[in-house]
Amino acid sequence: MSTFFGATRIGEALHTEHQSTLAALDALERLIDRRTMPDAADPQVRQVLETVAQALEDDVARHFAFEEENLFPRVAAAGATFMADMLAGEHEEIRPLAGQVRDLCRAHLDGGLSEPDWRLLRDVAQDLIERETFHIQKEEMGLLAALAQILDRDTDVELAARHAALTTA
Ligand SMILES: [Fe+2]
Ligand SMILES: [Fe+2]
Repeated sequence: MSTFFGATRIGEALHTEHQSTLAALDALERLIDRRTMPDAADPQVRQVLETVAQALEDDVARHFAFEEENLFPRVAAAGATFMADMLAGEHEEIRPLAGQVRDLCRAHLDGGLSEPDWRLLRDVAQDLIERETFHIQKEEMGLLAALAQILDRDTDVELAARHAALTTA
């Protein structure tokens, strides 16, 4: 990452995950831009569907939970309650959309979607891409800077280790 003054280790780890989520959302956007339903037997299509489904699984199961359990409470305790509540609220909005897109991607992998389900995937994915991209932008601008202000070095090291343990678990 472009290291800004006071960057934290945990901030760098989250930034890396944000980048891979954005890359997956980008691949999803190119997939749903097609006029016709992509062929679920095409290896390239399968690769995109698998990458997106896995990225959304990681996002909801681990990245969101880590932020909610370890970071938002610290941000709120430091006085930025508004930011913590806003970001947590966005997680609640994104979670069901991410789950639905993940399930529809897997259903397409497992035998193909009907036309109405393909249109549903396109609509929900569009909504998800907009919300998640905006959410990541806010965290990159607000949360990562706030962490640099509020985390002392020991806490930062401890959080980075906890995050790394979850990633490799
Ligand atoms: Fe988040
Ligand atoms: Fe995040």
